[in-house]
Amino acid sequence: MSVLNGKKILLGVSGGIAAYKTASLVRLFIKAGAHIQVIMTPASKDFVTPLTLSTLSKNPVHSTFFNQDDEDAVWNNHVELGLWADLMLIAPATANTLSKMATGNCDNLLIATYLSAKCPVYFAPAMDLDMYKHPSTLSSFAALKQFGNVMIPAESGELASGLSGEGRMAEPENIIAFLEADLESKLPLKGKKILITAGPTYEAIDPVRFIGNHSSGKMGFDIANEAAKLGAQVILVAGPTHFKVKNSLVEVVNVVSAQEMYDACHSCYNQVDVAIAAAAVADYRPKVVASQKIKKAADEFTIELEKTKDILASLGVIKKDQFLIGFALETENEIENAKLKIQKKNLDLIVLNSLQDEGAGFKKETNKVTFIDKDFKIEPMELKSKESVAVDILNKVISHFSKL
Ligand code: CTP
Repeated sequence: MSVLNGKKILLGVSGGIAAYKTASLVRLFIKAGAHIQVIMTPASKDFVTPLTLSTLSKNPVHSTFFNQDDEDAVWNNHVELGLWADLMLIAPATANTLSKMATGNCDNLLIATYLSAKCPVYFAPAMDLDMYKHPSTLSSFAALKQFGNVMIPAESGELASGLSGEGRMAEPENIIAFLEADLESKLPLKGKKILITAGPTYEAIDPVRFIGNHSSGKMGFDIANEAAKLGAQVILVAGPTHFKVKNSLVEVVNVVSAQEMYDACHSCYNQVDVAIAAAAVADYRPKVVASQKIKKAADEFTIELEKTKDILASLGVIKKDQFLIGFALETENEIENAKLKIQKKNLDLIVLNSLQDEGAGFKKETNKVTFIDKDFKIEPMELKSKESVAVDILNKVISHFSKL
């Protein structure tokens, strides 16, 4: 999945011949799953029509501060547009537009939006080779880079003037590849490896029966997906569940029993930076597993159980630098029990679920959690989707690494 998937992108088009290539650029953004709004300078409309870009972007194109043709003139709010975006790209960026961006010469909607945008800004220059090398253009590049904007360098080749050299706007495919590589390199969990456990475990009684629980695995899978979106490499050790992962950064290790989950976690624990135990591991298993199906006979039947290994506690014992997160599912004395688990299992953070909370727990789309850290700082969260809870948990991981 492209890192551009779901991103809100503002494309600023200025008036150069390369503007015709923005039609392909918009298509590629849409194909990558991005939401896109286009702002055109007045001059750019001589090179590509607003209708083309609005059709391809599936959004109205903005060009003036208000729509003159509209009976009830609608104000194009540049501040709102600037705040909407996750990323702004000016392509093509002409010498004129670059100079206005560098000096704050705000005489059109594109520049007003640029000045209002709080998101990362990229620009892809396009001009003739001598213009590209002119000291004035170079000083615009330098000023913009100093503002933190990122330049997507022009490419070499035949130019509209008939001359050949540097100045052609990067090809749309190359712009997309540049953005993807740049965004990926800046993801907050890039380079981090995370072990996540998910789902129930099944403890065999005989070849056809087992002891299990109602965990669907959704919470763990949501954490894995969100972690991968943030750039982490994930090892997801999952008990039996129907969930699938699409992100290539997530390696799924399928297990059935608590012992298999224990072995899978220990075989990779020393390579990971973070471990998150979201699985509902069986605490007990049958002491003896019958090799054949147990036949119905006596009126009463007892299965002797023995304790499984506590995976999370065992990871706490051998913890080095790993940031260790556990879950606690409680029905009474929630905070006190969760605090005891932090100490007993040597955790850095616990995510407490109370079954007393409406909307929390097994087989639900939502969860209501309370974070408790190892210093016993308590942070109750609102009822949210499990995806949003996953994001909150990963924000805790990000803030842990930002303090190191
Ligand atoms: N856990 C584990 N291995 C086990 C049991 C639990 O890794 N054999 C992990 C769970 O994944 C969870 C945390 O320990 O992150 C707490 O699980 P929970 O069921 O709330 O607590 P238990 O330690 O099993 O204690 P109890 O059932 O007595 O509350």
